[in-house]
Amino acid sequence: MEVTPISKLQPISSNILDAVGNTPMVRLPAGFDPEVKCEVLLKLEFMNPSGSIKDRIALHMVRQAEKSGKLKKGGRIVECSSGNTGAGLAMVAAALGYDITVVIPDKMSSEKIAAIRGWGADVVVTPANVGIEDRMHYTKVAGRIAAETEGAWWPDQYHNPDNTDAHYQFTATEIFAQCDGKIDHFVAGAGTGGTISGIGRYLKEHAPNCKVVGVDPVGSVLAHYWKTRELIEGGSYAVEGVGEEEVPRAWDVSVIDDYLVVNDQDSFLMARKLARATGIFAGGSSGFNLAATLRYARNLPADARVVTVLPDYGKAYLSKVYNDDYLRDNNYLDGVSANSATIGDLCSIKNTATLSANDTVTWGIRQAGERQVRPLPVIENDILLGIFDEGKAIQLLTTGTDTTSMLVRECYIDAPIVLDVAQPWQDATAALNNHDSVLVKDGNSYSSLSRNDLLRSLTRLNHKN
Ligand SMILES: Cc1ncc(COP(=O)(O)O)c(C=O)c1O
Repeated sequence: MEVTPISKLQPISSNILDAVGNTPMVRLPAGFDPEVKCEVLLKLEFMNPSGSIKDRIALHMVRQAEKSGKLKKGGRIVECSSGNTGAGLAMVAAALGYDITVVIPDKMSSEKIAAIRGWGADVVVTPANVGIEDRMHYTKVAGRIAAETEGAWWPDQYHNPDNTDAHYQFTATEIFAQCDGKIDHFVAGAGTGGTISGIGRYLKEHAPNCKVVGVDPVGSVLAHYWKTRELIEGGSYAVEGVGEEEVPRAWDVSVIDDYLVVNDQDSFLMARKLARATGIFAGGSSGFNLAATLRYARNLPADARVVTVLPDYGKAYLSKVYNDDYLRDNNYLDGVSANSATIGDLCSIKNTATLSANDTVTWGIRQAGERQVRPLPVIENDILLGIFDEGKAIQLLTTGTDTTSMLVRECYIDAPIVLDVAQPWQDATAALNNHDSVLVKDGNSYSSLSRNDLLRSLTRLNHKN
């Protein structure tokens, strides 16, 4: 690491909002994809202060609404969001003293929802699997709350020209300057369409030979609409933030030259590959953008330069893109043949937790509640004594007994059935017919397998071969 020259240091700022924008651009290492010969540049938008590209539009839309008088001092921002605009707006609202309500569909990661609450926003979670015309659709709910709330302003990012304008004025000018004007291809997915439309419009004006390429998830309607101007019915997909079921007015089809379609599996596996091969820890739509960029770049000459954006940070997807159990349960990783699977193939890699007989009962209660590993094995000198007695712990708490000085050796019962990871998986399903959970032994360590765990993990088995 080198010392940053003083002329390039950021001056002391009085407000977090000064940290929005001015994000780094990093070259993808040659050889990341052996079939790609050209230069691939990644704009790291997750370096924005709330962790995504949406900080730019959140700040710009709020500033424009203040100017036009739509948002007044003491007012409330109400927005529907797949999470990142909600986070950006929650940060802007906290920094500028507005109240905020964010309406978010329940398919979005729990980390994103928790973070928005962390900024003090009111969060309304709506069902993801309802049609756009349903009154419970998150856009409809946000519109209704805004209409019914005194002093509320609904940015409506999907149809707000200031969304697109933020990228035209800020994201695009940074990219153009960082590239010294040499940019031959720009690739990005669209959710609201603000990113690709704002950047695309700027590039068409300042680098007219630059090709602008859109990316759409399988199941979204945008790629088909771009090709045919025909609106089809959408399907479901898991990648967050991109794709749509209607045509947003923030999306300008006229600046897009080509469209690619990418599936969830390729998106997630590419994000994971990027993290492991380069250290760049980005979200699912970053993997989606990069998967499309590399597919496109394979046909380009060595002297071409392609730019894409990495919209948000990987930490927002620890329970999904970066969770092997989630990927295996949803068949994004290779399934395992039902003919040869063992109990170990059904076990989750979530933290295993064990109690020592000398731990306090208070500690046992905390582990049972927080780690969600149940039953909790109790071990002494590498020997399994039994499992933590939750029934007794409840009784102790109910009667106000001091559990801080009581030891787990006074609060365990015999272990239920103990199975070995190497046994055939059918042994676990048979045992769980009569028990809520079993312990699974792997060498000297134990983990739990509950009926609930089984319900998720049986989807990993492939019965076709
Ligand atoms: C993670 C993520 N990636 C990409 C996008 C797409 O950006 P845009 O809405 O500007 O099309 C979004 C938008 O919500 C997003 O949250």
